[in-house]
Amino acid sequence: MSTSGRVTGIYPGSFDPVTEGHLDMILRAARVVDHLVVAVLRNEQKAPMFSVAERKQMLRESLAGRVDNVEVDGFDGLLVNYAADRGAKLIVRGIRAISDYEYELQMALMNRRLRPEIETIFLMAGEQFSFLSSRLVKEVIRLGGDASGLVPNTVLDRLKDRLAPAK
Ligand code: PNS
Repeated sequence: MSTSGRVTGIYPGSFDPVTEGHLDMILRAARVVDHLVVAVLRNEQKAPMFSVAERKQMLRESLAGRVDNVEVDGFDGLLVNYAADRGAKLIVRGIRAISDYEYELQMALMNRRLRPEIETIFLMAGEQFSFLSSRLVKEVIRLGGDASGLVPNTVLDRLKDRLAPAK
């Protein structure tokens, strides 16, 4: 809870780009907190396909008119420091399958060690998205496969512009 009694949650990620699975998580998380900050990592080491500005823009376009308590922002440095700066004591992460658990547990426990006052909560992704990742969507489009329904249309168009093999 923030000092005003409102619960602010941070939903962090690379979002390179946002998928329907991320959107499902955002809508779920927005129902359990008063204010949700979708925080896009400025992860230059991971050599993202899209800039932070593009990733934020795609998130905003995909969320337009769907929720009114969600904000999209960028961050760098330690996630827990960003959360503290934003007055958030809750980090929200999604679990798609048991294989996500090990990595997520490691991150949650490291974050707890760094800032014990900040809790991580896990929400289960919609089962129809349990196989979905930004990485696989990019691979499918790069190889000429059909990724419609896996990412919002606006994202699909951008991905095809960047990746689809020339016909
Ligand atoms: O969508 P992703 O790539 O799984 O998100 C990973 C993310 C952004 C949550 C993680 O890389 C992160 O929190 N990075 C910020 C740096 C940090 O705080 N590292 C220590 C956490 S254990």
